[in-house]
Amino acid sequence: MKIKLGSKIGLTYLLILFSAMAVLGYLIISDIKQSFIGERKNVLFSYANIIAEKAAPYLHEQNTAYINFLAEDFGENIGHRILILDTAGTIIGDSSGASRGQHLSTPVVTASLQGESSAQTNYYPEYGNLLYLAVPVASSQQIIGAVFISADINDIQTRLNQTRNRLLAAALASGILAILLSLPLARIIITVPIGKLTRAAQKMSAGEYGYQVQIKSRDELEQLANSFNEMSEKIRQEDDIRRQFIANASHELKSPVAALKVLVESLLIKHPESKEETREFLFDIDGQLDRLSRLVNDLLLLSKIEKNTVSLNLEPVAIGQLLTEVKDNLLPLAANKEIEIKVKVQENITWPADREMLYRAVYNLADNAIKFSSLNKQVLLNCNVNKNILVISVFDQGMGISPEHLEKIFDRFYRVNKARERTTGGTGLGLAIVKEIITLHGGTVSAKSVPAHGSEFLITLPDPKQMS
Ligand SMILES: Nc1ncnc2c1ncn2[C@@H]1O[C@H](COP(=O)(O)OP(=O)(O)OP(=O)(O)O)[C@@H](O)[C@H]1O
Ligand SMILES: [Mg+2]
Repeated sequence: MKIKLGSKIGLTYLLILFSAMAVLGYLIISDIKQSFIGERKNVLFSYANIIAEKAAPYLHEQNTAYINFLAEDFGENIGHRILILDTAGTIIGDSSGASRGQHLSTPVVTASLQGESSAQTNYYPEYGNLLYLAVPVASSQQIIGAVFISADINDIQTRLNQTRNRLLAAALASGILAILLSLPLARIIITVPIGKLTRAAQKMSAGEYGYQVQIKSRDELEQLANSFNEMSEKIRQEDDIRRQFIANASHELKSPVAALKVLVESLLIKHPESKEETREFLFDIDGQLDRLSRLVNDLLLLSKIEKNTVSLNLEPVAIGQLLTEVKDNLLPLAANKEIEIKVKVQENITWPADREMLYRAVYNLADNAIKFSSLNKQVLLNCNVNKNILVISVFDQGMGISPEHLEKIFDRFYRVNKARERTTGGTGLGLAIVKEIITLHGGTVSAKSVPAHGSEFLITLPDPKQMS
């Protein structure tokens, strides 16, 4: 069964309200009862004391007729039954006249014959609530008897019942008010905003990424809505990036495939006459296939890193050797532009890293340095260790990168000059791969550049032993 949140809260409030009212009511009623009875006791004690004072001389003389008259007279005046007893507990005067000569030994009488005034409430089914009280009668410091009053206090109970009924009515009225107020209030405060959030979540799961929900309640629900909005916006951005990535990837794949198709079709239609001509076609096809396979490999590596399916194969890597290897492999490319590559490594540094991955990262940077430099320039591969951090830098004296592009060059497929760089064979994935590889190692990669003067790319790798 589904119970609405608003109803749950309303019912809880009601329960709390009724429990509080019940405890409060009980305390109030017992307090009133005590004070009513106390007041009644005080009045009756003073009557009893007056009677005791009046009765003392006659009790001393054993004037039973007058004692009885006293009991009857006071009894009529105050409207309660009055008994006057001697020290043996024998009733000498009785306002009702019914029990004269009989013996009475209720606890209050026994106490009063020992000199103590006391009172006691009793309940009898046929009479209801009765208050018994007795005071000693003394003459010359001696107890010579007792005055006993039995008072009907059912009126107090009646008044208490009235008060209780009023409290009950008040509780009921406030309960109804609480329901009437709390249900719509809970609806406004809780049900409506949660409904909004639920609808927003449904819209998101239906693919409406970036959907924003408006809740201005200045409470936790507004906080939740803000977090939801942030999440929604992030998912939208991620989705945009993913779509853009797919669009870019397909676009990049299209051109070598289209070129291959043209080349192969030309081969088929033209039937080249000479072997030389056929070789030329095959050479072009081979170039396009290279480009295609490089692109596919880059995409596969990126997606592997993204899916966290790559685990680093950490081993001590001789960094000087690695940089020299990069240099050697790039020598033909550099020679084409008469570019000199220099390697400068501080001592014999070995550093824990995934060799193949680190090679790839440095290679990509050095490849860029050569690609984006003009003839007769220098490329520098440096490495040193600074405060337990390995720093590899790649300098060039090339065309540089202007600040507005600098922050985007690590994005996938980003190229400063798309038209030109496509002719250099680049797809704009090189730096994205560098960034992923270095991030995977827990390091950073950054770039500084002065347009027309050159660039510096900086890799930092923390020592994994220090990190853990
Ligand atoms: N050393 C550099 N000097 C000037 N511009 C650079 C340099 N390195 C990178 N860039 C700019 O940043 C862009 C992105 O570089 P990246 O290595 O990601 O792609 P690419 O070299 O064009 O292609 P790929 O590396 O996939 O072959 C380059 O296209 C270029 O515009
Ligand atoms: Mg590159």
